[in-house]
Amino acid sequence: MAVVINRLLVVGLGLIGGSLAKAARERGLCHEVIGSSRNPDTLKKALANGVVDRVVACVEDVAAELGEGDVVLIGVPTLTVPAIIRQLQPLLAETVTITDVASVKGSVVDVVRQAYGGIPPQFVPGHPIAGSEKSGVEAANSALFDDHRVILTPLPETGAAHLQRVRELWQGAGAVISEMPVAEHDEVLAATSHLPHMLAYTLVDTLSHMRENREIFRYAAGGFRDFTRIAASDPVMWHDIVMANSTALLSVLDNFTDHVNSLKEAINNKDSEYLLGVFTRAREARNHFAKMLENKAYLEPMTQTIDYRVLPGQAVSGDIRVPGDKSISHRSIMLGSLANGVTEVTGFLEGEDSLATLQAFRDMGVVIEGPLNGRVVIHGVGIHGLKAPVGPLYLGNSGTSMRLLAGLLSGQSFDVELTGDESLSKRPMERVAAPLRQMGAVIDTNDGGRPPLRIKGGQSLKAIDYRLPMASAQVKSCVLLAGLYAEGVTRTTEPAPTRDHTERMLSGFGYPVARHGAVAELSGGGELTATAIDVPADISSATFFMVAAAIAPGSDVTLTHVGVNPTRVGVINILQMMGADLTLGNYREVGGEPVADIRIRYAPLHGIDIPEDQVPLAIDEFPALFVAAACAEGKTVLTGAEELRVKESDRIQAMADGLRILGVDAEPTPDGIVIQGGSIGGGEVDSLGDHRIAMSFAMASLRASQPILIRNCNNVATSFPDFVALANCAGLKIAEEAR
Ligand code: S3P
Repeated sequence: MAVVINRLLVVGLGLIGGSLAKAARERGLCHEVIGSSRNPDTLKKALANGVVDRVVACVEDVAAELGEGDVVLIGVPTLTVPAIIRQLQPLLAETVTITDVASVKGSVVDVVRQAYGGIPPQFVPGHPIAGSEKSGVEAANSALFDDHRVILTPLPETGAAHLQRVRELWQGAGAVISEMPVAEHDEVLAATSHLPHMLAYTLVDTLSHMRENREIFRYAAGGFRDFTRIAASDPVMWHDIVMANSTALLSVLDNFTDHVNSLKEAINNKDSEYLLGVFTRAREARNHFAKMLENKAYLEPMTQTIDYRVLPGQAVSGDIRVPGDKSISHRSIMLGSLANGVTEVTGFLEGEDSLATLQAFRDMGVVIEGPLNGRVVIHGVGIHGLKAPVGPLYLGNSGTSMRLLAGLLSGQSFDVELTGDESLSKRPMERVAAPLRQMGAVIDTNDGGRPPLRIKGGQSLKAIDYRLPMASAQVKSCVLLAGLYAEGVTRTTEPAPTRDHTERMLSGFGYPVARHGAVAELSGGGELTATAIDVPADISSATFFMVAAAIAPGSDVTLTHVGVNPTRVGVINILQMMGADLTLGNYREVGGEPVADIRIRYAPLHGIDIPEDQVPLAIDEFPALFVAAACAEGKTVLTGAEELRVKESDRIQAMADGLRILGVDAEPTPDGIVIQGGSIGGGEVDSLGDHRIAMSFAMASLRASQPILIRNCNNVATSFPDFVALANCAGLKIAEEAR
């Protein structure tokens, strides 16, 4: 690394100053490191331990010699900083860079302003967020700042060259630099560092007074030790910090005291909902912080890319229960959150998409327990009970979350921003923004109607009579959910039947929805009443195994407890038309949704012209149906399915490309595909990060002559957690490969 600093004078050789001096020396960050301390013993140790090149007993001995390229780092305790600044001010040339490491920045900046009659460009306030319970120069550790954060709080007057010099010093010592305004630094540190230290000291002090002797601590377990670890820190240092940052600290203490008082009241009133709310929210927030601290996103997107290598030519068999329905899982969280009372959901899909919806409602203040083995308990806040989230709501890969939430959130009193991953950020949102604007919503999108969506709160919505330009359950649901908040009767008319889970579930929550043919309508201003929801297995996930059994000789599987809502059974109709041996039994209804077991055995398939009225009823199942078509005798033709081009990927193109690589004759058309059945070879295909493309090609292996390598399969977790384990259990041979 190039030497950017000539001499570094470190005033105060405590842990922080000493460690930086040692790092600068060991890593060649400057030509000479000079240390100064009032304590002769410290100076001796600093020299003996190789912390500095030379020492001076007082700063006057060296300050006047310093000039361009030299840096003075003030490393003394916060309340001693003013004295050092005043001492240095008449001695230091204006070319010398001055920086400090005090934990509070406002008080230091004030002192500099007084001493200099303004902020000199040479002054760069800083604060390394690093430490240890050890103190003193003997604990100096040149690796102390590796991968730790240093906050610099430059002022408008701070000179660019001085700032750059300090940045390079810290970066050379291994630190990561953040910049923020002085006041923000002091507020953030008051909340995240100073308050916890005050609480730890106070707790230990309180308990140590509770009995004559300190016997009580004998019985303290790990929780006490963890919570109070920081009460072992340097008392003088913390005294100084509290005195210096009293304003910001008092403000967070007030806030905290209010919360403690509410907790006391809740305990007194045996208000278990309040208590559970605090604990659940806090636990979620803590998990969130833990991941942030480890630099992981909340939903932990995998850092590695997963590919599937699938061996050819197996058969599938057995009873299989696939995970819960994605559409119903999303809606259960949304309506459960807005209901009055507690909604218990079982069979909830613990996939990333529905978890993104769950997290969004937690971010808006809803207490949600679980999920645990598919059980979720939602403490509804009522139709007007959502709270403004602290930041944008991140919805990952989930179009359903974004489009349905857009409707719901258009009627709230607060502003909100909806964001998503790379794939979701490319998907069309104008289809929901346009009708919502007609209702009076104020929504801003990126160019081309793409996410993020910025929704302005506090609008009064009015009902509309909306004719959907495309068959889309998401658009229909979005308008109906906005209709809950609109004045008058909101009506949707769809060009073809699409999944009706929103309408069914609203009725289940006691909200009247009138339905006649293609029309659904509801009046705004009603209430939802909590209910129990049993989510059936997702027919879209079951599809992969239906196709598997249909194409692989010797197969026989029964998919249990599958949702067979008439608006979702296109895949069953189409497979039966192609000659599949598929039967339904054990029909029943759970929570307003029809459910059945589906048995499917191998039988030779033949190609068909897929009736266009089946397209919306099988919209998510086409990637798998294309694989069935590739294994069928003759030609299969799909038309009227241009919507497939705007799913998680362009599913027509993605499937055509992959099938062709595998040697199948597949011709994409603007609104569909023509597939000539034949033999499947092997090779490498790309799922383009689309879960359904990945799982469809896994099924193609059953009839392949060679292994298939499927790239980019991480997003299978959005809809089908544990797909690989279940598929392998059924007879497939899928190996996951991380790269
Ligand atoms: C869904 C509707 C469909 C479907 C999606 C889920 C829903 O989307 O493809 O996977 O839950 O409402 P469109 O409304 O865009 O057709």
